[in-house]
Amino acid sequence: MSASAANEVRCADAMRSPKIGCQVMEPRAESTAAPRVYLETYGCQMNVADSETISAVLHRAGYVTADAPETADVILLNTCAIREHAEERVLRRLNELARVKNTRPEVKLGILGCMAQNNRDALTEKAAYLDVIAGPDSYRRLPEMLARSGFDPSIDLRLDRAETYADITPDFAPGVRAYVTAMRGCDKFCAFCVVPYVRGRERSIPPSDLMREIRELAARGVKEVVLLGQTVNAYRFEDTDFGALLKMIATIDGIERIRFTSPHPTDMTDSVIDAMATVPKVQPYLHLPLQSGSDRILAAMERGYTVAEYLDLVARVRAAIPNLALSTDIIVGFRGETDADFEATTALMRAVGYDAAFMFKYSVREHTRAYKLGDSVSEEVKGRRLIDLIAMQEEMSASRNRAMVRREFPVLVEGPARRGGGMLAGKTPQYKTAIFRGLEGITAGDTVTVRVDSATGHSLMCSLA
Ligand code: 5AD
Ligand code: SF4
Repeated sequence: MSASAANEVRCADAMRSPKIGCQVMEPRAESTAAPRVYLETYGCQMNVADSETISAVLHRAGYVTADAPETADVILLNTCAIREHAEERVLRRLNELARVKNTRPEVKLGILGCMAQNNRDALTEKAAYLDVIAGPDSYRRLPEMLARSGFDPSIDLRLDRAETYADITPDFAPGVRAYVTAMRGCDKFCAFCVVPYVRGRERSIPPSDLMREIRELAARGVKEVVLLGQTVNAYRFEDTDFGALLKMIATIDGIERIRFTSPHPTDMTDSVIDAMATVPKVQPYLHLPLQSGSDRILAAMERGYTVAEYLDLVARVRAAIPNLALSTDIIVGFRGETDADFEATTALMRAVGYDAAFMFKYSVREHTRAYKLGDSVSEEVKGRRLIDLIAMQEEMSASRNRAMVRREFPVLVEGPARRGGGMLAGKTPQYKTAIFRGLEGITAGDTVTVRVDSATGHSLMCSLA
């Protein structure tokens, strides 16, 4: 059984772009008796990975997959709480799904994940038709909760410092790349961020479990693993730190590429840099969330580094890892951000020269340290700053990609390109999308050398070299 998932990478530092609802479970053998479940995923890559665990828990308990809400006995939404906008989307979707429940009241409707954890009261009030509300540490108990829910919703929002789901093999989506959760939770408490409150404290999965899981993936033909965690480089299990973990995973035959997301700048130790620099399987791409280029705002955000420290880190990783690609996360309009602070962010982004950036308007989140302070930048100003920053970054991404023209790269083939027409797509080591005309015999999982012919901010048009 496998789970197919949409993308949106990470929650919080690791999980950024707002994601798209996706159907996570695939149809299993036909059965009239087994209850059918439909699961949609919102938010970051971590949520997509969690949905693969949820899918495994439910399959084990005898559920089969429904491919549409209309044919399901149970409808579940795995949700994101990182920004208000993400929550609004889920509420709109819930209203739509309530119609299914109106026609078939026996259908069970559940809300899972970060928004469930964040919003229990508002949810029970707004959506009286919910049968299950389960937070990120409660997925193991879902079958029990679904069986129990009756007139009142079954609610489980206990955060559990010990829950890692290490013993549950997720229903990994098919493909050459697999996302493997290495650590859960976050201890950083950045002033703007709700993640530590909804996902709880940091905990790492034992290396032995990760090795077992990744060996199984390799045996199934997976060539690339992406290790996930809100602050994945804070990974530590007994004596194994993240650098050591990368080195261990690199010993697994069949795994050709290793990536991770998202690291936190303050956990970017020499051990991690050394693993990136010396282990060829660890790919030269680093997502290094900056958030702001102003020291005043970084301090207010409680990020734990200054601009000078961040720049020093960038210089060290670039010196150690040739051809490194860098991406980042930026928040515009955090409380107190002046035009001068925003200009400092723009200037710093230009100075670093990111290959890509995920940029967001600040969204005040209940429970966070910055919540009580509220907003000081109007929506209009936030919007203008965001548009300016996106335009600047698009130019930067396009110019950095154009600098790749005429160069050659090894590309791990993922399959047909979306544009069709016999074109194939895959990623360069720097995680840039390469599109090229395939040849008979080249299939997903192969690594081919391509030469870049032209580039946009989003992809490289290539030919086989
Ligand atoms: N408002 C806007 N963006 C946020 N992020 C986290 N919390 C907020 C918030 N309250 C962004 C950060 C983080 C990314 C995953 O989401 O940039 O790195
Ligand atoms: Fe990332 Fe900070 Fe949120 Fe933790 S608190 S997930 S480090 S943004």
